[in-house]
Amino acid sequence: MRVLGIETSCDETAAAVVERDHNGQGRILSSVVLSQIDDHAPYGGVVPEIAARAHVEVLDRLIGQALHEAHMTLDEVDAVAATAGPGLIGGLIVGLMTGKAIAMVAQKPFYAINHLEGHALTPRLTDQIDFPYLLLLVSGGHTQMVLVKGLGDYERLGTTIDDALGEAFDKTAKLLGLPYPGGPEVEKAASLGDPSRFSLPRPLKGEERLDFSFSGLKTAVRQLATTLEPLSQTDVNDICAAFQAAVADTLNDRVSRSLARFRARFPGVKEPVLVVAGGVAANKVLRTCLQDLCSGNGFRFIAPPMALCTDNAAMIAWAGVERAGHMAADSLDIAPRSRWPLDMQSAPLIGAGRRGAKA
Ligand code: KG4
Ligand code: ZN
Repeated sequence: MRVLGIETSCDETAAAVVERDHNGQGRILSSVVLSQIDDHAPYGGVVPEIAARAHVEVLDRLIGQALHEAHMTLDEVDAVAATAGPGLIGGLIVGLMTGKAIAMVAQKPFYAINHLEGHALTPRLTDQIDFPYLLLLVSGGHTQMVLVKGLGDYERLGTTIDDALGEAFDKTAKLLGLPYPGGPEVEKAASLGDPSRFSLPRPLKGEERLDFSFSGLKTAVRQLATTLEPLSQTDVNDICAAFQAAVADTLNDRVSRSLARFRARFPGVKEPVLVVAGGVAANKVLRTCLQDLCSGNGFRFIAPPMALCTDNAAMIAWAGVERAGHMAADSLDIAPRSRWPLDMQSAPLIGAGRRGAKA
């Protein structure tokens, strides 16, 4: 089974070819990702119109490149999969229409993929893990703790009630005059700072519900920065260190409760797994914190390679592979959806499942 995948839901244009062999082992034959970061950087966040236009300009070339690198023609793929949501509607239309057109012309089955399902199934491509497992998705547009129970069977345990975690890093960076995207900049400054000089809030820490909240933390950073103005480099480093420490502490609390919840729900699972995905998973301090938490609780910790944690089309192709193995193809009149929760039963929360508008 070989699937061509297409991803255009935010600010990365991506195409990939992924195969699954007879033993169920996945293999990435090609994965091309073109980031638009430079196009959006002057605005301090993703601008939807710029994103959509940039996808149109490069997508067909990227698909050609993905097929070429996989040494394959369109005839040799078994299905086409494209992200249908959630995300920025302009970009989704570009990728979905392209995927449908290719599927129609090449007469291949078409799969409309939920971007979050792509992230959720990635560890089955990289590590062949079995259901059920826990997924912590922390990116610029999403912050969710999801119980991955089976293919198409997801339960959201918690989500952000305001900003996504990557968004909180980006906004904090902006407040402190650091460039976009802010995550790596804040991490760099934090490594030089003193986390104990300032104390910042730990939103929702200690609460039974498994949700996240980061806008209060960002406001606290703003107030602190205003009081200290003009900021020295040491001030910036110390604020970043305090911010990152508060995030680590909050994640620690939220995630350890989720691990306990998983144990209670699935007492028979011998080696439970926590998977982390999303751009924020690049943060070494947060990764170490999650790794330690898992070791201390008897969980295996999986962080897919960075190129598969951030947005890519291999995860969309893989979700197509998994779906093609169990489900009928989607109809070509399926529409893109800017909001599309993985768990259709969970109550919508403001800010959750939102992408873009990071500025
Ligand atoms: O998954 P991703 O590449 O893209 C989307 O959200 O679409 O995530 C990007 C986010 C940005 O908000 C960026 O600031 C954050 O991930 N990020 C980080 C780090 N590297 C990237 N946040 C914290 N620490 C990092 N080292
Ligand atoms: Zn993503």
